[in-house]
Amino acid sequence: MRIGILTGGGDCPGLNPVIRAVVRKAINEGCEVIGIKNGWKGLIEKDVILLDLQSVSGILPKGGTILGTSRTNPYKKPEDVKKVKENYQNLGLNALVAVGGEDTLGVAYKLSKEGLKIVGIPKTIDNDLSATDYTFGFDTAVNIATECIDRLHTTAESHHRIIVVEVMGRHAGWIATEAGIAGGADVILIPEVPIDIEEVCALIKKRHNRGKTFSIVVVAEGARFKEGQVVTHEEKLDEFGHVRLGGIGEVLGKIIEERTGFETRVVVLGHLQRGGTPTAFDRVLGTRFGIKAVELILKQEFGKMVSLQGNKIATVPLEKAVEELKPVDMELYEVAKTFFG
Ligand code: F6P
Repeated sequence: MRIGILTGGGDCPGLNPVIRAVVRKAINEGCEVIGIKNGWKGLIEKDVILLDLQSVSGILPKGGTILGTSRTNPYKKPEDVKKVKENYQNLGLNALVAVGGEDTLGVAYKLSKEGLKIVGIPKTIDNDLSATDYTFGFDTAVNIATECIDRLHTTAESHHRIIVVEVMGRHAGWIATEAGIAGGADVILIPEVPIDIEEVCALIKKRHNRGKTFSIVVVAEGARFKEGQVVTHEEKLDEFGHVRLGGIGEVLGKIIEERTGFETRVVVLGHLQRGGTPTAFDRVLGTRFGIKAVELILKQEFGKMVSLQGNKIATVPLEKAVEELKPVDMELYEVAKTFFG
């Protein structure tokens, strides 16, 4: 049996443990694995490599993806979908493992409806896929952001400043909420709850009044003011129709400084949150997902996605994977709010 594997969308820590697990399990079971480079782009261009035991040796602690990635959407051009299907056949693939977020898995779902044998593995630092309790990459991103918040605390305190920390997460505030709680943020702003700037400034002033002359405000890149729009880098949309978010931290920092009179600095964590070695949690989750994906293929169960439900690895139809995004649990946000101001 010949199994293809690709990684699409934004990279995230834990992808290499998945690739390693798929290759090791597949080879143990007598299968061959073909690595498709740069997500769907590699299947359009037939850009592939053979993945043997040697090629996955030593990649477990490595961030990123040895296969490369792209945000290429074959459904942008009918001729690309045709190429994907032809190359799937020409490469002699019996199954394909698609590792990605909502966009990559959305393509996987469409292709599987058109007859390709595909199994999906969910990936994103944003943790915004509703069909799985956690995605790998998220834990690493939260740990990186938490460490940064810890570091920013000491300098904010020494200078009696407000530091606004902008984190990723797209339209969900998971990274902001969890890193904010873990890092002891004084205000956490997320897309799920529009920003009330009066309240933010009041909370910071309240803190100052009780002798805390510094504050850490964590803001998710997708957060917006009441009746406002999300802040973006540019108008351009990517191939899946997404805007490039970012910039809310700067806007917020200026307003806070103007309204409170306290010196304010802004730090945008950006792609630091996606880089570097995965945490043990993400290595284990990625490994479990990879093994389960091969098990599904061996049982000829296609059109499914592996998923973490509680502490068990389960499966859901690929269609569920892309049905809806998972907003932050408001119970968790209430926990965070206890420490505001
Ligand atoms: O989806 C993962 C993510 O890191 C988002 O949190 C962020 O908005 C986006 O990707 C950034 O994309 P890019 O790597 O294309 O700048």
